[in-house]
Amino acid sequence: MEREGSVYTVIFTTILCGICSVLVASAAVGLKDRQIMNKILDKQHKILLVSGLAGAKESLSRSEIQERYKQNIETKLVNFETGEYETSLDPATFDPQRALKDPNLSKPAPPNGAGIVNMSKYGHIYFVKKGGQVEEVIIPIQGRGLWSVMYGFLALDKDLNTVRGIIFYEHGETPGLGGEIENPRWCQLWVGRKVYDDTGKVQLSVIKGTAGPPDTDPYRVDGLSGATMTSRGVTNLIQFWLSDSVYGKFLKKKREQGSL
Ligand SMILES: Cc1cc2nc3c(=O)[nH]c(=O)nc-3n(C[C@H](O)[C@H](O)[C@H](O)COP(=O)(O)O)c2cc1C
Repeated sequence: MEREGSVYTVIFTTILCGICSVLVASAAVGLKDRQIMNKILDKQHKILLVSGLAGAKESLSRSEIQERYKQNIETKLVNFETGEYETSLDPATFDPQRALKDPNLSKPAPPNGAGIVNMSKYGHIYFVKKGGQVEEVIIPIQGRGLWSVMYGFLALDKDLNTVRGIIFYEHGETPGLGGEIENPRWCQLWVGRKVYDDTGKVQLSVIKGTAGPPDTDPYRVDGLSGATMTSRGVTNLIQFWLSDSVYGKFLKKKREQGSL
């Protein structure tokens, strides 16, 4: 066959494309488990960061993250309808995102500003143990910003009202504007603020402007300048996930019982 001919070119490129497709597909399939593992590891690292069990400047190996997580974090599931622990499901395998596709595990969300249409009936809660005692609980949070869905974790003190940390680990807000939700200096402003007022209502919000210190201005956090929409999104997601329809019922019950 003539090498310069068009038939040769077509056959050559077809075979080349075939080989490349097989290589790419094999890499995607072969690396899938590793990608899932990396995602789990990244989430565990973020939980260690928000709980203060790992420092932002600390460089941890995979095994150090796994070990520290295993030593200090206990995971349970909360039933949002009863406000109790859900023991019929395994927290290690339950996936709230996958639950959204199952009508037995999910339901329409009540009206909210966080852009949540359907919600899982159950959610993870992470207990941070130091010296065997629960020191903090961590709640996954997510909601609509200006451009994207923002995913994070909120750490509460064992009093189940005082914020111990917040972290956003995935979002598509503009770097330098809404993307400042990742800025550790802004996240630090949340520490010591209160979620619920004396009547049990969620009061915590991001304001436009500057808030006072937590002891005199406990329910307000500085807004991100030039990012009012993202800031409002953060308020909305806090209001949703801590409301009685989601984690609020559980937190209220446990506050009244005085134990976890
Ligand atoms: C390129 C571009 C990117 C922007 N990104 C964001 C953003 O990530 N979050 C946000 O709230 N506003 C963003 N804004 C600004 C909004 O459009 C809007 O002006 C802003 O939320 C108003 O906030 P301010 O009252 O604090 O200025 C962006 C604007 C431009 C032009």
